[in-house]
Amino acid sequence: MDLGIGNRVALVTGGVRGIGLAIVQRLVGEGCRVAVCDIDAEAARALPEGVFFTPCDVGDEDQCEDMITCVAEQVGPVDILVNNAGVQSVVSLDEATLEDWERVMRINVTAAFMLSKIVVPGMKERGWGRIVNIASMAGKVGGLTVSASYSTSKAGMMGLTKSIARAGAPEVTSNAVAPAFIRTAMTEPETEAEFAPQIPLRRLGTPEDVAAGVAFLASDLAGFVTGEVFDINGGLLMD
Ligand SMILES: NC(=O)c1ccc[n+]([C@@H]2O[C@H](COP(=O)([O-])OP(=O)(O)OC[C@H]3O[C@@H](n4cnc5c(N)ncnc54)[C@H](O)[C@@H]3O)[C@@H](O)[C@H]2O)c1
Repeated sequence: MDLGIGNRVALVTGGVRGIGLAIVQRLVGEGCRVAVCDIDAEAARALPEGVFFTPCDVGDEDQCEDMITCVAEQVGPVDILVNNAGVQSVVSLDEATLEDWERVMRINVTAAFMLSKIVVPGMKERGWGRIVNIASMAGKVGGLTVSASYSTSKAGMMGLTKSIARAGAPEVTSNAVAPAFIRTAMTEPETEAEFAPQIPLRRLGTPEDVAAGVAFLASDLAGFVTGEVFDINGGLLMD
């Protein structure tokens, strides 16, 4: 099935591993010209051939601006922005600090705000654009295993998605995916044993499951979808 995004320029933040890498691989497979930014330049060696990499801490406004300029010069103006970079936090409310709260909010949601603000005007001028934000089921239900900072950042991502959907229309769509329990290199075997039986589809998700949802929302097939939060959770939460 042709998603209609061949030759579009896609930028995936935090794309060197895990869910971000699966999104990169999927978008490359769809024919996109893909750029990746990440703080982990070492891991960028795992990127598929032809993907442009530039180091960037998305929590830093100046670095975000320089990175978008660099991608525009080296690959082209961004048509598809996937705000995937994120950090986890598992501290309890008792032990949580303002420092943890501000760090998690900055990387998980403020960065998506800063980057969207930079790229949306150009997308509108060119008449086409896609923002796809990686939220989480934790943003809907509070964290089952994660901190208040994490779940609040992901709830914020959903509000941001809808605000951008209104501001970007009609040229730019903005949607989010809300994954839960996706198996990555860091998933503990105990997590799978504990949660898989509670998931109606009886398994954890894969990064490729998330990438498929992102590719759809980034595509021309989703041209009449905006402001949506698309659950990818095996039926764990049906709302
Ligand atoms: N794994 C899950 O079960 C799950 C569930 C729901 C949502 N998510 C979300 O999916 C996204 C990807 O998660 P993952 O499981 O692949 O995690 P991961 O830790 O494997 O990947 C996150 C990537 O973001 C990068 N990153 C972190 N801070 C950064 C910064 N300041 N600037 C630039 N890059 C930075 C990391 O280097 C890493 O490459 C995150 O937003 C996460 O919150 C994951």
